Amino acid sequence: MIDMHSHILPNMDDGSKSPEMSVEMLKESSAQGVTTVLSTSHFYIKGDSVHSFLERRAHAIDKLEKALEGQENIPDIYYGAEVYYFNGISDYEGIERLSINNTKYILLEMPFNKWNSRVFQEVENIIYNRKLIPVIAHLERFTGFQKGTDNIERLLSMRVVAQMNGEHLLSMFTKGKALKWLSDGTVKLLGSDMHNTDSRPQTLGRAAEIISKKLGARVLDDIEKRSKEILGID
Ligand SMILES: [Fe+2]
Repeated sequence: MIDMHSHILPNMDDGSKSPEMSVEMLKESSAQGVTTVLSTSHFYIKGDSVHSFLERRAHAIDKLEKALEGQENIPDIYYGAEVYYFNGISDYEGIERLSINNTKYILLEMPFNKWNSRVFQEVENIIYNRKLIPVIAHLERFTGFQKGTDNIERLLSMRVVAQMNGEHLLSMFTKGKALKWLSDGTVKLLGSDMHNTDSRPQTLGRAAEIISKKLGARVLDDIEKRSKEILGID
C-alpha cells in the first residue's frame, strides 16, 4: 500500500509536531501495511516562496532522518508538497520544483469555494504551458462546494489524476460513493492525509481491507501500480 498524501515532516505545517511524532506516524503506517509514504507538506503562496519552502523542507528532512536512525519498520519516504491553488500559479516561477519526487506530477489542492473560469484556466495552463500533471488532492472535499455545477466532471475531463483520502471509505455515509469512485476509475490514488497520531491518523490499513473485501485485491494492485508510476519508482 502506498500513501500518496501525508503531513509527516516535523514542524513544516499543521502536521507532525516533532520528529518523535513523525517516527510514530511512520511506524503506525508500516504496521498497517503501508510500504511507501509520499510526504506532502502544505505550500501556501501567502507568506511563502518556493525557495524558502524547499529550504525549510530540507531542514525538516534532516531532522526526520536523524530521528529515524536505527529505527526499524519504517516505510520508504518520498517528497513533494500539497500546493494550494492561487491565481497566477500557472505563471509562478519554480512551481515545478514542488512536484512529486521531481516528476511531472504535482499535488494540487483546489480552492474551497465554487470554482470559476479563472480556476479552470489556471489548471489548463499548468497542464499545457507548464507541462505538469495535477494530482487533485482529496477530491471528495470539494464536491459540496461545486453543487449545482458540472465543475467536478469538468475538472476530471482534463488531464488530471484524482486522489481520495482513506477516511472517505471509513465513514458509513460516504463509503458507497468512495467505492464507486474507485470501481469506475474516477479516483486512482489513495492517501491518508495523516497529520498526527490521534485526531488525523493513518487510515489506509482499514481502507485497504474495505477495498479488498468489496472490490477485490485487483483494485488495490491497480492503485499501487498507478502510485508507483507517479512516484517514478518500480
Ligand atoms: Fe493534506
